[in-house]
Amino acid sequence: MSAVCTCELARAADAETIANMSRWLIESGLQPTWTAQRVLWHIRDAESVVLVAREQGRLVGFAIMQFGETRAHLNLLGVLPSRQRSGIGRRLMRWLEETAMTAGTFLIRLEVRVGNTAARAFYASLGYRELGVLEGYYQERDSAVRMARDLSMGLGGLV
Ligand SMILES: CC(C)(COP(=O)(O)OP(=O)(O)OC[C@H]1O[C@@H](n2cnc3c(N)ncnc32)[C@H](O)[C@@H]1OP(=O)(O)O)[C@@H](O)C(=O)NCCC(=O)NCCS
Repeated sequence: MSAVCTCELARAADAETIANMSRWLIESGLQPTWTAQRVLWHIRDAESVVLVAREQGRLVGFAIMQFGETRAHLNLLGVLPSRQRSGIGRRLMRWLEETAMTAGTFLIRLEVRVGNTAARAFYASLGYRELGVLEGYYQERDSAVRMARDLSMGLGGLV
């Protein structure tokens, strides 16, 4: 039986772990940009939500979303490889989407590395549409696919 997973707001002490995980899970092959200080800035920022998933106290997933006037932007999302495909990513996204809807923000956008077919399939399964490719988006070394979801019709049972 798998451990109980809880989603909660990150604490300052999580910044280092999130930055480390981002480095090898998301930014591999790139100059790391998600330092612990940058994560900490988002933890303290009133317009951002930094969410973590924990199992028996261990951080197994995280997400950072920044909320604007008309749309929210997903900056980071990651789940420990050993815990992937157990619904943690979906739970983190549902939490953020519900928060966005509560705040009256109905458009969520994100970028994902073009070769990251697993994440593209994950977002597609949650109802995100691919809007186009942004050439050289990541430090001129890799391109991104921009994806978005319109929440104005509600979560529609997708997540
Ligand atoms: C992308 C990521 C966050 C998904 O998190 P996860 O917890 O593994 O995803 P879930 O278990 O919630 O999957 C939900 C659904 O997404 C789809 N999905 C998830 N991973 C998939 C994969 N590797 N291939 C195809 N579809 C996938 C499936 O439809 C899945 O539902 P199912 O397991 O019932 O079939 C995770 O794979 C990850 O951390 N990857 C490395 C970091 C990364 O790429 N982050 C995103 C870019 S910032």
